[in-house]
Amino acid sequence: MMIAGMSPFRLQAQTAKPATDIESRIEELLTRMTLAEKLGQMTQVTVTDNMYEMRGMIRAGMIGSYINIHDRALADTLQRIALTESRLGIPLLMARDVIHGYNTIFPIPLGQAATWDAALVEQGARISATEASSDGIRWTFSPMLDISRDPRWGRIVESYGEDPYLTTTLGTACIRGLQGSDLSDATSLAACAKHFVAYGAAEGGRDYNSTFIGERRLRDVYFPPFEAAVQAGAATFMTSFNDNDGIPSVASHWLHHEVLRDEWHFDGLVVSDWQAINELEPQGYASDLYEAVTRAVHAGVEMDMMGYGYLTHLDSMVRSGQVDQLLIDQAVRDILRVKFRLGLFDQPYATTSPSVKYAPEHLAAARAMAAQSAILLKNDNDVLPLSRRLKRIAIVGPMADAPHDQMGTWSFDGDKSHTITPLKALRETLENHAEILYTPGLTYSRDSSQTGISQAVATALQADVVIAFVGEEAILSGEAHSLADLRLQGRQTELLEQLSQTGRPLITVVMTGHPLPLERESACSDALLLMFHPGTMGGPALADLLTGQMSPCGRLPVTLPRTVGQIPIYYAYNNTCRPSEGNDPSLADIPLEAGQTSTDCNSRYLDYGTAPLYPFGYGLGYTHFAYGTPHTDTAHIAAGDTLHVAIDITNTGRTKGIETVQLYTGKPAASVVQPVKELRAFQRVTLSPGETRRVTFALPTTQLAFTGVDMKRRIEPGRYLLWVAPDSSTGERIEFFVHAP
Ligand code: NOJ
Repeated sequence: MMIAGMSPFRLQAQTAKPATDIESRIEELLTRMTLAEKLGQMTQVTVTDNMYEMRGMIRAGMIGSYINIHDRALADTLQRIALTESRLGIPLLMARDVIHGYNTIFPIPLGQAATWDAALVEQGARISATEASSDGIRWTFSPMLDISRDPRWGRIVESYGEDPYLTTTLGTACIRGLQGSDLSDATSLAACAKHFVAYGAAEGGRDYNSTFIGERRLRDVYFPPFEAAVQAGAATFMTSFNDNDGIPSVASHWLHHEVLRDEWHFDGLVVSDWQAINELEPQGYASDLYEAVTRAVHAGVEMDMMGYGYLTHLDSMVRSGQVDQLLIDQAVRDILRVKFRLGLFDQPYATTSPSVKYAPEHLAAARAMAAQSAILLKNDNDVLPLSRRLKRIAIVGPMADAPHDQMGTWSFDGDKSHTITPLKALRETLENHAEILYTPGLTYSRDSSQTGISQAVATALQADVVIAFVGEEAILSGEAHSLADLRLQGRQTELLEQLSQTGRPLITVVMTGHPLPLERESACSDALLLMFHPGTMGGPALADLLTGQMSPCGRLPVTLPRTVGQIPIYYAYNNTCRPSEGNDPSLADIPLEAGQTSTDCNSRYLDYGTAPLYPFGYGLGYTHFAYGTPHTDTAHIAAGDTLHVAIDITNTGRTKGIETVQLYTGKPAASVVQPVKELRAFQRVTLSPGETRRVTFALPTTQLAFTGVDMKRRIEPGRYLLWVAPDSSTGERIEFFVHAP
């Protein structure tokens, strides 16, 4: 029997599954539920001021989940109504976006990605879960696993960047941190892998825009972090807003039934994005809400976030037979399973432990993460760390003292009065050694006034060194905040260029959401430090770095373009039939009336070539590392076996430092054209001056698999290339061969 909208696997799995305690409790409950109560479970709404109305709906069993709860007392009040006044006493699931911290704000996810450190990401998520659960929240919509290769897209800030392996590593760490070792622990949050799928590939970087990603690329680039999320036990998934090649995700049967359930065996719940079911109408995929609801429910979307369509329309559809009752039962099973796994039936109220907001250990972890998220892009003449001989330090720029903006987007519950800005931290740290002269120059990032610039220049002239804090206000990135022009806002570049003309060493710190094409800023600065919005403790973290208490160790999780016109730009591009030789021309060198074929016929821009400003994986520290020649244990390996790779890394500088050693492979000839190289592994090693360490990698050949012509994943025999390098643009190349097993 084939139930419309449900795959045979789901029905079969249902009967075949062992009757665990949770499963039998679900079945028992299900037999007692009315259709209206089932539809209530499939409904998520937000809190309002109308307690009378909320109480009535909860009592009637019309609500399964609340979004935007952030008050322990209210959470417990609503929960008590559900438990004691509704017929079946099914607990509510309280949700909130806890994207990069709850009260203690950590760096935005793109900054977390710049640490390349899964342990730090896991720790940050654990702390966020502890703080949020103390306000009654047990479900959050994180991590965002969308591969993001377009810096114009406002939500790139919520991503772990452009690379599937890095995103998978850090995304699963986030899930572990949020969910803890036991989902039923009162401090655990159910994670939500979002947005399924390809949302980050929005055409032109404009949020909510269509995507056109073919199935093979979905499988090789966009799916892996999501499949890994299922394996890591992510309790929930969220659909994405975009249509991919004409099919909106929220209406895609293929994505949710065939891929997520049948292939990956996900047994958690799938929630729509905010009103995404209703929005099928403006999106042009449904003529009215009836049609939208039918499409979403058949696609396997089990909870309607803020749309009310399931609550108001499914009843008559089920009664008339348009929607099969079994589809509803399956959705309710998956929702109840998450509630049981969270332990809500046994411990429904907010944890009674004392409030843990801004605990000292939380702030310390936020400081450590912020410091390790900073990427040193340039440091001419070792201008950093600051010499103790410097007696007068000029601090300028709109981000030097911007407590709200340095928290970045999605910081609803972070209180800016707890933020420590760079100005405050540097004043405290340096007060005994140097005089701080502060002139913002521009009051906020979009400020286009000119008067402040001359004041800043005058201040710079009185100082031994200038530290300029520029970047973006928080409002310029995030959901629905894409930008077409990524040059620094307002007169910030002009400010930097004028400061540089003072002849004082110029240290530029960029605090931003979008990865920006910082070519002019890099050119006029002696040192350039990039920090994606670093959160509550960004200031102390910067003070640690600038004074040399810590060496910068962040690495770019995205390729930094030279100009917007190079976008999309990412390191794992497919080769073309005419690869660029790297000998990019200069427009000025092309003679007048040059012949059509007088310049090389290569795949590159005449004006900007192919090279980015800084490559993926790049980042400097205060010391230097030498790479030996990588060795593999064999040059010939059978598919299915594991290749072992070793390389010696030496700290050749004078200070201790962390190096992120990256392993890439490429397949120069394959049955499907492959990226020139792909990140397969990385390790962070801490080395003292003069120390050499042998770094070893175990590379299972299964990691080399790609999706073949038949859409099946395969490890294809043949010649492979391998690099072990400090970033994606360099490294000695060696080769190995894979044979059929
Ligand atoms: C819309 C966003 O796309 C999603 O990421 C978020 O979790 C929901 N709104 C809930 O706020």
